[in-house]
Amino acid sequence: MFAENVYIMEHPLVSHKLSILRDKNTSVKDFRELVSEIGMLITYEATRDLPLVTKTVETPLCTAEVPMLAGKKLAVVPILRAGLGLVDGILRMIPSARVGHIGMYRDEETLEPHTYFCKLPKDISEREVMVVDPMLATGGSAEAAITELKSRGCKAIKLVVLLAAPEGIERITDAHPDVSIYCGAVDEKLNERGYILPGLGDAGDRIFGTK
Ligand code: PRP
Ligand code: URA
Repeated sequence: MFAENVYIMEHPLVSHKLSILRDKNTSVKDFRELVSEIGMLITYEATRDLPLVTKTVETPLCTAEVPMLAGKKLAVVPILRAGLGLVDGILRMIPSARVGHIGMYRDEETLEPHTYFCKLPKDISEREVMVVDPMLATGGSAEAAITELKSRGCKAIKLVVLLAAPEGIERITDAHPDVSIYCGAVDEKLNERGYILPGLGDAGDRIFGTK
């Protein structure tokens, strides 16, 4: 149905945790914790192809040749604000990752994305980049964020989202076919205001308790 570089998690833990996120009665505290946990689980899949090199270590018993991650570590770039909810979990998995920030908001009328902030590690073009955001709805925010990163020299980009609409996935696949998408689940459609249905509501408001 989607391009072959679109990976939809089909894992009971992810499905279960997403179902709790969807519940409008889930508290801000639980919502935040679940976003972080699901982010960790998707990161596990999204990092499956990281290159390894062989290093030598002395175990208590002998010398061993062991695999270690190769080269410069990843950069994680959350799309503000809601993407921030994923960062802690990802850094627990990849503690030496660098973190950039890109601020985007959707105009509520036109649904067009606007960039209001961008601060990235200096050597971002030498790193594999994970762009993270809980929601991929029309795809406008992620498309613009990825375009901005490419204009700053990023060559290897993955997009990690908790929930996507088919429209958002198609938009990224069309605009950035080189970007793999890792997604907790794909919902049915968008409503007339660009919200994912059944979805989980406004991810930023639910993470930060602003509504
Ligand atoms: C949400 C979400 C994505 C965007 C998705 O952010 O976190 O960034 O909408 O929608 P799109 O795919 O149609 O662009 P929002 O603009 O609500 O800002 P926020 O994170 O500050 O709440
Ligand atoms: N942004 C959100 O936070 N939720 C949606 O359903 C769509 C965009």
